[in-house]
Amino acid sequence: MQKTRTKTRVFSGVQPTGNLHLGNYLGAVTRFVALQAEHDCLYCVVDLHAITVFQDPDELKYNTREVTAAFIASGIDPTRHIIFNQSQVSGHAELAWIFNCVARVGWLNRMTQFKEKAGKDRENASAGLYVYPNLMAADILLYHATHVPVGEDQKQHLELARDIAQKFNNDFARTIARAGYDGGFFPLPEPLITGPATRVMSLRDGLKKMSKSDESDMTRINLTDDADTIAKKIRKAKTDPEPLPSETKGLEGRPEADNLVGIYAALAETDREAVLRDFGNASFSKFKESLAELAATRLVPIGTEMKRLMADPVEIDCVLDDGAKRAHAIADPILAMTKDIVGFIRS
Ligand code: AMP
Ligand code: TRP
Repeated sequence: MQKTRTKTRVFSGVQPTGNLHLGNYLGAVTRFVALQAEHDCLYCVVDLHAITVFQDPDELKYNTREVTAAFIASGIDPTRHIIFNQSQVSGHAELAWIFNCVARVGWLNRMTQFKEKAGKDRENASAGLYVYPNLMAADILLYHATHVPVGEDQKQHLELARDIAQKFNNDFARTIARAGYDGGFFPLPEPLITGPATRVMSLRDGLKKMSKSDESDMTRINLTDDADTIAKKIRKAKTDPEPLPSETKGLEGRPEADNLVGIYAALAETDREAVLRDFGNASFSKFKESLAELAATRLVPIGTEMKRLMADPVEIDCVLDDGAKRAHAIADPILAMTKDIVGFIRS
């Protein structure tokens, strides 16, 4: 009997490291919401990834619940899809170990995120930070996920996950064939990097990514910011002295203008062309006023709902517990088969 896969499955993860921002929302979470209609989805709060950089234990718990609340408040339905935290499904760590032995050191050495996060003092980075992309590959492949919505910054990690799946399929081709799998055991996951805001930039520097860890809170809009804070941050966002162009070509070489127009387009669920048809030749002060209004309309209800959900941590933990059980049910047979393929004896 030949086993083939035809079903699609979506997997993605967000780290519980605090300050969930507009980049996370537009680059990832809104995509997660949209994919629910057509696919079976797993959305994971990746606490194992978070501790590659030290996290205060109490804050880690708080932030894990907060990402869960953000998922639900943004419109992910935990009854129809799966929301869970990574550490509750031990298969992630087990498969990551196997992948540590499949991935090559040379592949990891090319990862730009490691270079950025480790900074100058690379000797002092945790070993976990170095093998982080192998764990990410394990997250996806533990569920035989086929599609992975992420922001632009994760593209290289997705390519590595595909390389790992391919090398595993080649290295173990004989036992994979013996187990009856046609066309490899692990699918090669497709990145889904779509929409006008796959890389939202800092409000203070159009060449720097909007980031949870930027020291200045003025560089990002947090999902929990109130309308006044959002308006203040947008008003103070860096721009250039020219009015907005009427066509996208005029955004070239103007990273701050391009960023704000991209944010507007994503929030309004349209594209840059349409935004510039409405705002071409407008001054930034006028455009920023509309953008602040739009951002508040979209984000404030989410922030309010997050705060409401956070008032009942027991309820959030129940969602994660239920999600972990359902995630286990998918992962366990895949992990068991992986162990057979690798040659581990199991009872
Ligand atoms: P992280 O906060 O690193 O766990 O990222 C969670 C998700 O948000 C990933 O899919 C990232 O690619 C995405 N993301 C993070 N920062 C940005 C950004 N500035 N613009 C767009 N997407 C982002
Ligand atoms: N590395 C991702 C980030 O920092 C988070 C992540 C972990 C992830 N595991 C994943 C994303 C699996 C997609 C699929 O943004």
